[in-house]
Amino acid sequence: MESSDPPGSHSKENAQEILGLKMELLQTRRYLQCILQHSNDIIFATDAGGILVSFGRGGEKALGYPREEVAGRPIRDLAVDPSEFDRLTALAQEMGNAAHVEFPFRHKAGHTIYCDVSLIAFTRAEGQTVGTVGIGRDVTQQKKLQEDLIRVDRLAEIGRTASGIAHEINNPLAIIGEISGWIRTVAGDAKGLTPEDREEIERAVRFIQEQTRRCRSITHQLLSFVRDSGPSRASVDIHKLLEETVSFLNPDLKYKEILVSINLMEGPLVMDSDKQMLEQVLVNLLSNAVYAVEEKGGKGGRIDIATARVESMIEIRISDNGAGISEENQKRMFDLFFTTKPPGKGTGLGLPICQNIIRKLGGDLSFKTEAGEGTTFFVRLPVS
Ligand SMILES: Nc1ncnc2c1ncn2[C@@H]1O[C@H](COP(=O)(O)OP(=O)(O)OP(=O)(O)O)[C@@H](O)[C@H]1O
Ligand SMILES: [Mg+2]
Repeated sequence: MESSDPPGSHSKENAQEILGLKMELLQTRRYLQCILQHSNDIIFATDAGGILVSFGRGGEKALGYPREEVAGRPIRDLAVDPSEFDRLTALAQEMGNAAHVEFPFRHKAGHTIYCDVSLIAFTRAEGQTVGTVGIGRDVTQQKKLQEDLIRVDRLAEIGRTASGIAHEINNPLAIIGEISGWIRTVAGDAKGLTPEDREEIERAVRFIQEQTRRCRSITHQLLSFVRDSGPSRASVDIHKLLEETVSFLNPDLKYKEILVSINLMEGPLVMDSDKQMLEQVLVNLLSNAVYAVEEKGGKGGRIDIATARVESMIEIRISDNGAGISEENQKRMFDLFFTTKPPGKGTGLGLPICQNIIRKLGGDLSFKTEAGEGTTFFVRLPVS
């Protein structure tokens, strides 16, 4: 049979078709590159062995790695928990179509980035996996917000519990306070007591009264933390308050053989503030310092207290040569209920309460620490 086509037209058509396909391929590639370059989403592709073959600009931004640094590396290396990542990708491959997971990746700088990821496994017709494509979004901020909301919720719960407990505890505390006052009077009048006995009873009762007052102040502070009431203002002698606070803690400090040095700036330091609130801050910071020194162990535990004027602020520094705080824990120290102490020893309320109080007083709380060397807390309060 004779063909009506001129010779060579078949191959011409083929060549044109191939050219068309090439153009299409080129366009698709450009289109994909455009998505990879400009999308804020984390887009990556791996081969069947989980080795990264493609990593978009969004991923570079979210995880801090330039493309060249991760290309050719197993994607699991970027996960906070690589074996959990393996489990999820295996699951995605089993499911075949897009599996939706929330997954933590490690940012180059070390912190965690939570991603909402869709994993799509690519398989050949015969069922063999050729790779996985992942499209994810950084949801760290939303997650943090969610956690904050949960925390606020927990706080409200604590508030309700605290008001119940405060009510129950304040009455017995009032009675303890009253009876100890009465014991003081009786001991003062009692005959047959040596002056030493009298003085000892007097001192013990004073101690009970101080501690009772402190307990009442703590329940009030916990309540005010929840109710968000403002501080009261009266003239407070900060130096006197520091000395009083240290003398409350003195028996404990002596017992633990911790040396406390007080280095106060010249002259009395009097300011308008809330004495009970400040006392609570100092007790919390000093208790933390005592614990840190104890935790480090050995002899030579020291706590240094100093005051200074820094611009228009008064600064109280509380330094310890204790265990210090690891980088990981530094980020969470002011979180409500964050504690590294065993149950019964800490509730993780101390620092958030301190921070809350100092903010209410218009000041600022910061710290400097070195693991194994010690920590300094800086309380800054406006002079007026
Ligand atoms: N001076 C310090 N040195 C070392 N670590 C500290 C120091 N102060 C605080 N921390 C760390 O911060 C955590 C939180 O402190 P925070 O005072 O809020 O709670 P807590 O002391 O554990 O419990 P609570 O104060 O409610 O009894 C502590 O568990 C500890 O790990
Ligand atoms: Mg504490």
